[in-house]
Amino acid sequence: MPKPPVDPNKVVVFSGAGISAESGIDTYRDQDGAWNKVNPELVASKRAWEKHPGNVLSFFNERQKAVIAAQPNAAHYAVQKLEEKFEVVVITQNVDDLHERAGSSDILHLHGSLSQARGDSPEAVPFERGIAPIELGDRDDDGYQLRPHIVLFGEDMLHAEEARQHFLTAGKILVVGTSLSVYSAAGLLKKGRFEADKVIVSFDVQKVPFGYHLVRGKATEMVPVVVDDWLARADA
Ligand code: APR
Repeated sequence: MPKPPVDPNKVVVFSGAGISAESGIDTYRDQDGAWNKVNPELVASKRAWEKHPGNVLSFFNERQKAVIAAQPNAAHYAVQKLEEKFEVVVITQNVDDLHERAGSSDILHLHGSLSQARGDSPEAVPFERGIAPIELGDRDDDGYQLRPHIVLFGEDMLHAEEARQHFLTAGKILVVGTSLSVYSAAGLLKKGRFEADKVIVSFDVQKVPFGYHLVRGKATEMVPVVVDDWLARADA
């Protein structure tokens, strides 16, 4: 199957929790990360939802409080600024809405969004739920218990094929603030084409993906540097 052509004007930004860390939202696997405070199996897995839904609701209600209190940071705004010269698709593992609030216009949430809820049934359609927490007994019109529209461990990533196509056709790929621990999201990076500009900004990644140039440092410091360089070169 021939690969689709690379579009030099298309940028994919692939983000993880590290882009929101400086906005005050805990990452997952850093020293002070969420998974070092609670076992994700107990609060963020399909099995936990089936056995103890109240624990899952409490965990994500707390995460939602942190998101509401947070503001987008210089990294989120720099990502939005890329839209001045490029067609930008933000493909994020994050469930916060900081890319939206920074003004990015094309965003795929691979792991869902805290701002959305849905009934606990396969046919249920997610809807914007505002900032109210979800409690046990909150039900949709069909009587199903409401849950956050979040992909739990043991559930499939959203927008997989669409995300894959974007990686295959991007002329530039900027990866920000992810430990690349969770597949299949992390598996998308290898779809990046040889001829594409591929940069990863992070404090520390265990292994730099093949073909990606590591820019080590804080997202708020380094993402603007990469973005300004790409914008300047677009004018040249
Ligand atoms: N600037 C840049 N990078 C940072 C910063 C920062 N200020 N702070 C932390 N980082 C980096 C860390 O070094 C780490 O590599 O961000 C990464 C965060 O990794 P994780 O906590 O594992 O978050 P993420 O990669 O998004 O996790 C992926 O796992 O638990 C699931 O669904 C959850 O979407 C999440 C997925």
